[in-house]
Amino acid sequence: MQKPLFVSTALLLASPLFAYQDAPKYYDNVAPILRDKCEICHRENDVAPFALPDYDTAVTYSPDIQRVVSTGKMPPWKPVAGHGDFKGSFALTEDERKLILAWVEAGTPAGDEGKKLPPLENKSEWSLGYPDRVLSMLQSYEPPVGQDVYRCFVIPTDFDQTRYVKAIDYLPGDRGIVHHVLLYADTQGIGDKLDAEDPEPGYSCFGGPGIDIGLSTLKSLLGGWAPGQRAHLLPDDLGIEIPKGAKLIMQVHYFPASRTAPDQTRIGLYLHESKPKNTMFMVPVLNQSFEIPPGDAAHQVNETFPPAGLSTLFDVLHLLEPTKIATVYPHMHLLGTQIKVDITDRRGEVITPLIYIDQWDFKWQGSYDYIEPQLLKSGNRVRLSCTYNNSESNIYNPNNPLIPVRWGEKTTDEMCLVFMGVYSSALENAIGGLIN
Ligand code: HEC
Repeated sequence: MQKPLFVSTALLLASPLFAYQDAPKYYDNVAPILRDKCEICHRENDVAPFALPDYDTAVTYSPDIQRVVSTGKMPPWKPVAGHGDFKGSFALTEDERKLILAWVEAGTPAGDEGKKLPPLENKSEWSLGYPDRVLSMLQSYEPPVGQDVYRCFVIPTDFDQTRYVKAIDYLPGDRGIVHHVLLYADTQGIGDKLDAEDPEPGYSCFGGPGIDIGLSTLKSLLGGWAPGQRAHLLPDDLGIEIPKGAKLIMQVHYFPASRTAPDQTRIGLYLHESKPKNTMFMVPVLNQSFEIPPGDAAHQVNETFPPAGLSTLFDVLHLLEPTKIATVYPHMHLLGTQIKVDITDRRGEVITPLIYIDQWDFKWQGSYDYIEPQLLKSGNRVRLSCTYNNSESNIYNPNNPLIPVRWGEKTTDEMCLVFMGVYSSALENAIGGLIN
């Protein structure tokens, strides 16, 4: 009895009449999705190569839209759903994805033009209002055309005491060429030294600004920006520390656009008036002692935090107060294919998935802020897993011929690293003395 019904429904679904009547329409269904999930970058003077402002353009690009939406290449929101709820996500929901694909398949019907969206407003410069301090690259820099360039610029601060920020916003000088920005505080003069050795403005830096990862890093990574990302204010009792006398190092990735222009990217700092109750620490979880054999297309490297020797100490600390994880920033280089971070119990059973990126792309890295902080409790561990493809099938493999690859900052080296932005008064008391 069921079968004939099924067949007729299938026939009906496949018929052009059905497709025309019930298929999603541009003005009614598709345009609002493109507005929220695509036009944050696909607009005039932004990072994407074309704008998607109206029906005609959407139709022109519809074969490409179909391809990139079905493969998941676009939008470039990397974390897999179900592994952490992040602020400002521009991922497509499964329904939105299906809807866009059904619209293309149905022949891109326009629908009710009366529902046309108003044109996009021009972006106001600073989304959180004018910052307390605006700092800028000292000189402009013009990257060469058609190349990936990672450059670090040293920016002095004029603070006569340690300050705490609630938010940092970034204004790329030229949104068509600036692909992402990471900001560090340097208290050791490392940036000035490297800058002095490089004749052009700033210095070349791929895997990081040259600051050693260790205790000194706990407060050195301040934040980052990638296209589509908006600044968020931290809660009133939480701040990011900029130590007295520190200089800022801004790492800018210029991506291979077909044109160039002088860029002078600015940052806006929103300051706490006084020291807030908690300071955010960037705890690196990393494995520096791996070797990825040439030819291995799925090599895995793992790491656990806290390290074995410190786990009892952290378990006691976490009885007093769980550590709150506010943000994560996963990092690998060009061989990386997947990165996964979980909170587990002592035996390794997953308690809370923190983040999972299943199609790692070095060009689309960033930090992700949790909507609600994640708790690291007594007995909990953080497990990091990095997967690499060091074979010829990896089109981004920088080594030809293939070689064994280890930890390092160069393009041809690798990293297995996640920074966790954490806070807790107990933790601060325990390690504060060590790093101040
Ligand atoms: C965060 C910024 C951003 C968002 C959001 C975004 N794009 Fe893109 N898009 C880019 C950039 C940058 C490129 C060019 C570089 C590249 O292809 O990676 C691009 C390229 C494309 C291309 C051409 C790439 C190709 O392989 O042909 C298409 C088509 C596209 N985007 C469609 C979309 C659609 C549809 C959405 C929304 C569902 C979207 N994009 C959301 C930044 C974005």
